[in-house]
Amino acid sequence: MAQSIRDDDGVSNTSRNLSLTELVDQAIAQNPKRRMLLKTGLGLAAVPFLGGLAACGGGDDAVLPTPETPVVPAEKMLSFTGVATSTGDAIVVPEGYVATAFVPWGTPINNAAPNWKADATGSAADQEQQVGDNHDGMAFFGFNASANGFGERSDEGLLVINHEYINPEYFYAPDSDTADWMAPFTYEKARKALAGHGISIVHTKRAADGSWEHVKSSLFNRRIHGNTPMTIQGPAAGHTLMKTAADPSGTVVLGTLNNCGNGRTPWGTYLTCEENFNGYFGWNGDRTPSALENRYGISATGFGYRWHTVDPRFDVNATPNEPNRHGWIVEIDPFAPASQAVKRTALGRFKHENAELVIAPNGKAVVYMGCDERNEYIYKFVSSGTFDATNPTSAANRNLLADGTLYVARFDAGATTGDNMGSGVWIPLVHGQNGLTDANGFSSQGDVMIRARQAADRVGATMMDRPEWVAANPKKAGEVFVTLTNNSRRGGTSSNNADGSTTAGSARPPVDEANPRANNVWGHIVRWNEAGGDGTALSFSWDIFVLAGQPSITDARKPSANATLDNLFNSPDGLAFDSFGRMWIQTDGNFSNTGDFAGNGNNQMLVADPQTKEIRRFLVGPSGCEITGITWTPDRKTMFINVQHPGEVGSHPNKPAAYTDDNWLARNPTSFSKWPTSGVRPRSATVVVRRTDGGVIGA
Ligand code: FEO
Ligand code: CA
Ligand code: CA
Repeated sequence: MAQSIRDDDGVSNTSRNLSLTELVDQAIAQNPKRRMLLKTGLGLAAVPFLGGLAACGGGDDAVLPTPETPVVPAEKMLSFTGVATSTGDAIVVPEGYVATAFVPWGTPINNAAPNWKADATGSAADQEQQVGDNHDGMAFFGFNASANGFGERSDEGLLVINHEYINPEYFYAPDSDTADWMAPFTYEKARKALAGHGISIVHTKRAADGSWEHVKSSLFNRRIHGNTPMTIQGPAAGHTLMKTAADPSGTVVLGTLNNCGNGRTPWGTYLTCEENFNGYFGWNGDRTPSALENRYGISATGFGYRWHTVDPRFDVNATPNEPNRHGWIVEIDPFAPASQAVKRTALGRFKHENAELVIAPNGKAVVYMGCDERNEYIYKFVSSGTFDATNPTSAANRNLLADGTLYVARFDAGATTGDNMGSGVWIPLVHGQNGLTDANGFSSQGDVMIRARQAADRVGATMMDRPEWVAANPKKAGEVFVTLTNNSRRGGTSSNNADGSTTAGSARPPVDEANPRANNVWGHIVRWNEAGGDGTALSFSWDIFVLAGQPSITDARKPSANATLDNLFNSPDGLAFDSFGRMWIQTDGNFSNTGDFAGNGNNQMLVADPQTKEIRRFLVGPSGCEITGITWTPDRKTMFINVQHPGEVGSHPNKPAAYTDDNWLARNPTSFSKWPTSGVRPRSATVVVRRTDGGVIGA
């Protein structure tokens, strides 16, 4: 997020949606003897078997090649030459790869939409028909053979992109006040900002040369933004805390905001995650915030967006329950342009980073989620119903997120203290259990979901170093990773109070085994394994996968051995596995390239081998950006990532000498970054990554 507007510092995972063809090809690569069996008419019933085969890691008996069973070279885990760091205003990718910007902020969403104006004078009505700002989580959904629904095609599909927030210094053309480019602030400006948030659904198609085009004539192209009506579903729907004068039913809300990471489902829907929603709210006049408002960080002026000054919906004095209608997981059917998005309240209300969905061995849908703020928690949802693999897009499957149990994680030290590993438990957040009772102020399951942070305080969850993305290893059932990006408030003596009275981000807990460094400036990645490889298990074991940092440091802040001079990075954030089992790590950290961060350069993307723990740098972004969001075509020959907020000045070594503040930058918008369009103000954009030989990415 931009320096002017954030109080804290955002991949989709196609791995659960492996095509049958791909599973078969992988299995053959691992054991060519199986070719005849696998290529002769096995249907969907073979999938579980193939999944087990893929998980065996190629350790089967050797087979002599025959003309019918040629040996396919085994795909390697890390098969590219790592790139050096950079502080330049360009994307860096390994030799043999190309990276091309795609659908930047302002791209007309379809043929009828107006063109973007390079001086940022476009209207709110224009923005409602153009790609939003600050691209973040993202998923590619291939079409079926008829190009009218969810399928397995790698040459054409729908790219669904989150737009987390806006960069006011680049988003608004300077107005009449020379000291404040945003003044006078108007309803039109708030509406334009609301339109810059949300989701873009972009019909994409691969050309013969491997490049990708936006099919602007398609009726699938769609914007969902901060004023788009959507349904509230689940235990919090209709709750008193969800009702407003405009919606006395508490079941219909305008918009989704701060769309950070994402998820996807095997039934073909997209999950967008509402993160720092609190920053859009404020109040006019006096107010003593409630414990609920404090716990979720609602404040008088928010992050400085000013919407509350012109739109009563964002003035907590005028509409006190509106914040409760944000902070949810939202499910969207990209293939049904007329459908309404649904806020799934059974998954809890907090500052959602992403939503990693896996199908457990017993068929339950399990969704892993982090709450990104200092000293917040890691959660998982387990559906009540089970997934029907024989009819993936069935109505029952499509309703699996409507009902289930939300759990929160406690990380314990385990049998040995000080070994950076231990055990853990999942604690259910169910009304009437574990102290979530009427006597303790929890009146219903809907209340528990609306106040999920406070419920987690009550049950004794473990405060973590800012949980960002969660990713599940497709090649090891029950193995899950989380990025803990950094934490400036670790190493003290205070904790989130059990009664839910703590103000957001104000605790300063002592170090613990899962969060072992005081003032954790570089971040780390924790891995856990669910008991029995079962995502619905109530216990797990865990260890630390990597502690980022400077290898030259040998004191208590020292990094783990797999953080080396060749892969220097800080603040891991985006995290996802490709279907082969590579773990991709994206950063949103300090790009000053000095002090603790010397040699880190611009934000970047790396790839890790989850078994050997080797980490290698794959990509470096342009000046002042973060790298976030990742998705692949099913054949993994195209990878899409996002460059968010290029041109954030911060402490960048190349910032303009004349730079003073955002008011100056708004008047000199091409003074720092001009990515991705020469001579034009910087814009967030998707990046299409391909291999020049047309091969599989990373292989
Ligand atoms: Fe939107 Fe926590 O990143
Ligand atoms: Ca993030
Ligand atoms: Ca231990």
